[in-house]
Amino acid sequence: MADLDDIRDGKEYGVGVEQCTDGFFLKGSNNLDLGMKDRLSRIFNPATGRTVMLAFDHGFIMGPTSGVERIDLSIVPLIEHADCLMCTRGVLRSLVPPTSRKPICLRADAGTSILTELNHNVVIDIQDAVKVNASAIAVMVSVGDAATEAETVANLYQAVDEGQAYGIPVMGVTAVGKDMARDARYFGLASRLCAENGANIVKTYYTEGFEKVVACCPVPIVIAGGKKLPELEALDLAYRAIQSGAAGVDMGRNVFQSEKPAAMIQAVGAVVHQGLKPAEAFQMFNDLK
Ligand code: R5P
Repeated sequence: MADLDDIRDGKEYGVGVEQCTDGFFLKGSNNLDLGMKDRLSRIFNPATGRTVMLAFDHGFIMGPTSGVERIDLSIVPLIEHADCLMCTRGVLRSLVPPTSRKPICLRADAGTSILTELNHNVVIDIQDAVKVNASAIAVMVSVGDAATEAETVANLYQAVDEGQAYGIPVMGVTAVGKDMARDARYFGLASRLCAENGANIVKTYYTEGFEKVVACCPVPIVIAGGKKLPELEALDLAYRAIQSGAAGVDMGRNVFQSEKPAAMIQAVGAVVHQGLKPAEAFQMFNDLK
């Protein structure tokens, strides 16, 4: 029986004060359902609208490439500095501490490796993403590759349908094939295609004219770091992407293949969230252990 003692009448009704009806902070996300917005707010810092995703899903196509041979030794110490972790379910279950309290962007397609034809992938069951409490699922789309374009777009479609059903955002990952031009026209097309097919976040690559790629993509874009660069160049890449309107980075090799991965991810974070200039961030990298 409910306690009926001392039920006090309400007094503070705020009559005349409008209820807050602010829009949601993230580009193109205002009309999403609560579960989606809640998960996006874990991935993107509401104070800056940006994120530093630490990507270490590389083993799913590359195996134990440099920097991810021992996730427990190389990646786990970096987790505290990341806003979000991008990894496969295998590594998530076997190596990522369940006490990490970081949102997971789950690599949700699988099926090929660098030894064969890439991108003939299938999408994992959404129930598994729910079980591991994923805050987003990531699916590759190979726009412009005649052999796999249609099946990867179908994968994205499936992921979006299932993600919508469970309130889990989908990140469309634009693939880069050897025959694809790495320019703003191509990345603009690939990013827009992902968004039009329902992706809530797009991961693509920085290129000259990136502000146009961002402007015509209706949802937030994060950039992959790509192959390892000298630290100052990688920080410059992140800076230019952010200045062009990117909502963050999904960076792997330029962090975990750095000589000082912990310093690097913190320097990248300062570029992303505080707008540090590349030289300032490089100084920070040098000063940190
Ligand atoms: C590649 O297998 C993955 O999609 C990576 O998560 C992505 O390319 C980001 O990693 P990186 O910064 O090393 O390119």
